[in-house]
This record gives sequence, structure tokens and C-alpha cells, in this order.
Amino acid sequence: MSEDIVILGVFVADTAYRAARQPRMGETLMGTSFALGPGGKGSNQAVAAARAGGSVHFITRIGDDPFGKMAQDTWAKAGVTPEITIDADSYTGAAYIFVEESTGNNAIIVAPGAAEGISAVDVDARGDLIRAAAVFVTQLEQPMSAAMRGLKLAREGGAKTILNPAPAADVPDTMLALCDFVTPNETEADGITGIAVTNMSSARQAADILIRRGAGAAIITLGDQGALYHDGQVSELVPVFNAGAVVETTGAGDAFNGGFAAALARGMAPLEAVRFGCATAGISVTRPGTAPSMPTLDEIEALLAT
Ligand code: RIB
Ligand code: NA
Repeated sequence: MSEDIVILGVFVADTAYRAARQPRMGETLMGTSFALGPGGKGSNQAVAAARAGGSVHFITRIGDDPFGKMAQDTWAKAGVTPEITIDADSYTGAAYIFVEESTGNNAIIVAPGAAEGISAVDVDARGDLIRAAAVFVTQLEQPMSAAMRGLKLAREGGAKTILNPAPAADVPDTMLALCDFVTPNETEADGITGIAVTNMSSARQAADILIRRGAGAAIITLGDQGALYHDGQVSELVPVFNAGAVVETTGAGDAFNGGFAAALARGMAPLEAVRFGCATAGISVTRPGTAPSMPTLDEIEALLAT
């Protein structure tokens, strides 16, 4: 049985600015610090899954430039196998990240660059790899048509499929029907279902809609409230793990998805895998950055044991 995890998505360089608040239009504001590091939801999830013990392949497009080199160094260090196309006519993307000093919360602008060109043809070129995977994961930072194709091939091969529908978009039923698991946060759940997710009952309502529209199970991540798992029969709130003071929540969703995928690939039952994903996220928020804050398997297991 394959334990391979195949992730399709985007790498960008994260440029993170900490400040008391965001500037208003026309205003210049002094920040408290700046950090440059590897990011992009797909790449962050690949790094999280690999550090959590998974055997991970990552499909993407980057440019031939310094941020592209940062991407390759990041994957080499984390043990992620890159399945990449280098587009010399474009550039490796970047994200502007505002981190609010008092809370560690964030607001982001992503410019995907070369990754905008990820196509169904790129995905088809890795068809054998995707069909043979135990778990396939994708998000919505690259074109939806590519994500759709990946989910289709993964389904054909019998892989467990995870769609992290981020950033928020209106996901069609034909896509939800290809997902064993769909993992939106509150905003993304609202984007798909039209339900404003503000508490447990609205989360449950949104999850019901996601299942009715074709997803096998919905896992709605609820920030410091934890994650609601709902598959039509079982409905359970998995609380967050407190691993220390929160420094930066950027990439917490990616930590969850990467950890969840790694746990599923190892054969854990879905609800156990959600706990594993929550523990992964719980550690990541205690450290600055996105990909660099992903914990190791030992660290996750130690937290789960407490
Ligand atoms: O989910 C967090 C990620 O979203 C950041 O790393 C940023 O690059 C954006 O893609
Ligand atoms: Na972090």
C-alpha cells in the first residue's frame, strides 16, 4: 500500500511585516519588524506533511530567480520531492503579509507569478504519480481547473482526496463531489455555502451543506475554537492544542492540512487524523513564519501524548 502524499499548489516567498495596525490609503506607517521566508499554501502544506513524517511530492510552477531558489532549498531541507516546471518567462510569486502585533493575526495579498500558469496539462504529466498516491491534497491558489484535474485523477486511482478551499472561492458541486475531505476555515466555508460561520451551530449548518453538495466529510477550522469534523454520521469538535504563547497564526491552516494528510497517509482514522492536524497547527502558531514553523513528528507526538 502506497503511503505517498501528492500535493498540488503554490509556492510564494512570504514577506511578513509586523505592525500595530495596517496603513490607511496614502499613509506611511512604521512597522516593528520584517521577515522573509518560504510560504504559499500548497508548499507550506507539503513542508508540514513531510516534517510530520510523510513521503511527499509537490507539484507546482516557479520562476528561475532567487525566490525560486528559496523554494528549492526549502523542499530539499524538508525532504519534499519537487515535481516542478520552471517558467523562465515568469517569476516566483510573493505574498505581502501583515501581522498584527497584539494578536499575531494576519491579512495577506498573494501574487502567484509562475504558479498562475499551473494547468491541467501540468497535472496530467504527473498522472501516474497522482493515481498511485495514498492521499492527494490541493488548494485554490492556482487555477481551479488544475485543482479539479488533480482531484479527478486522484479519485480514479483511489487516493483519499483533500481540498483546502483557500483562498475563499465559490466551489462548484462537481468539485466537492471529488473530495473525501473539504477543509475550509470560517470565511471559506461562508464563501462556498453562504452561511456566515460564527459559532458551532452555523459551522454545523455549513458542514451539512458541504456534504449535501457532494463532499465526503467537512472539516471546518475555527481558529482558536478548534476544528469541527462532520461526515453526516459523526460530528465532533476537536479542540485546539495549547503548545505555548501564540506568536503568529499565518499558515496555521496549512499546518493543519499537512498534518492531517500525513496522518491519513499513515492509516489513521479521520477523526484521529484531525486531532493530529490540530496538534500540528497548535505548535506552528507558537513560532514565527509559515513553512519554517512546521513541527516534526516527534514534537507532534509529544504534544498528543500530554
Ligand atoms: O496560508 C498561509 C499562506 O497563504 C502564506 O504562506 C502566504 O504565502 C499565503 O499563500
Ligand atoms: Na507560525
